[in-house]
Amino acid sequence: MVDTSRPVRRALFLHSPVRRKPRVVLEQMLALVDDDTPADGPEGPVAVLERRLAGLLGKEQALFFPSGTMAQQTALRVHADRRGRRTFAAHPQSHLDVWEEQGYNAVHDLRLHRTGDLHELMTVQDLAAIGEPLAAAVWELPQRDIGGLLPEWDDLCEQVALVRGTGAAAHLDGARLWEAQTYYRRPFDEIAAQFDTVYLSLYKSLQGVRGAVLASDAATVAEAGVWRQRLGGGIRDAWPLALAALVHLDGLADEMPAYREHAIAIAAAINQDGAARAYPDPPQTPLFHIHLPADRRAVEQAGQAILAEHGIQLWGRVRSASEPGRCAFEVSVGENAMEFTPDEVVDLVREVLTRAAVVADGRRPETD
Ligand SMILES: Cc1ncc(COP(=O)(O)O)c(C=O)c1O
Repeated sequence: MVDTSRPVRRALFLHSPVRRKPRVVLEQMLALVDDDTPADGPEGPVAVLERRLAGLLGKEQALFFPSGTMAQQTALRVHADRRGRRTFAAHPQSHLDVWEEQGYNAVHDLRLHRTGDLHELMTVQDLAAIGEPLAAAVWELPQRDIGGLLPEWDDLCEQVALVRGTGAAAHLDGARLWEAQTYYRRPFDEIAAQFDTVYLSLYKSLQGVRGAVLASDAATVAEAGVWRQRLGGGIRDAWPLALAALVHLDGLADEMPAYREHAIAIAAAINQDGAARAYPDPPQTPLFHIHLPADRRAVEQAGQAILAEHGIQLWGRVRSASEPGRCAFEVSVGENAMEFTPDEVVDLVREVLTRAAVVADGRRPETD
């Protein structure tokens, strides 16, 4: 992890504190309210946001949640209880399994049928081979931890049709749906129409503070609301979180294609240079990975030194690779990364590798 107690002046990392300073966020929010803006009720920011996102997604209703973790587990709980089935399918690197302490099981008594290869997208063959009744299947678009990969549209439709044909629900982990949309280039409601339930994050590309929305038909949203209350998520006065998300909602879809183009340009420069490898090549979305031929800990130290000396935060987390002595980090292009030219990123990656080599040399026992 990066020590962000050091002042960050620029960042390649979307979630860096650079644009999340409380004063900046509050000023943006202030511009959206006047003396008559109510805190809640049908004209309050939460209801406005819910209506706008339901409209964007072409769903009957949308419901605010304090987190995507709660929203997604709730969606799966509702699908499972309705069908009397406890198992859902998801990719082995699904956020639900990797980052949520198996809440689906600990809290909801659900079982995950891990589906597909660890480093590849789920396929229709993977789903056809499941062999047990499912309550639901989850598609994370893009699949973040394998470099932001997306299935081709026809492939996705085939997968969803197969799953729904068995009576299971289709759920979209659309934490980064704006990113995915830059690849599919289809209206949001056309993408969402594939799915029974859709979760969107309010703080990734939308750059809000926290929070999520779950969109679906009215009956599903009503049931999800009961679970939200049971789980302690029916918080009143969530208006600051909704307002922060509304700040960027209007402009985001227009900005995203430029982010994707910039991601493609950075990745091309890295691959042409050859010292590291950008994957996928070319990136499908504004999110991709940079793979480094260097030890994770040495790279982390190099990143700390670069932050201390230049005030540049390069990543949120460096992850080891299955091949020893290699690691990778995620680049998610948004306003932050737009400030870096592709050549500058190449130079920074080279600096990381040079510094990491020095760190690694210092660790090796002396020989003569
Ligand atoms: C793909 C994906 N799904 C779900 C979540 C969970 O969202 P939250 O942090 O709001 O619980 C995240 C958060 O990073 C995510 O990346």
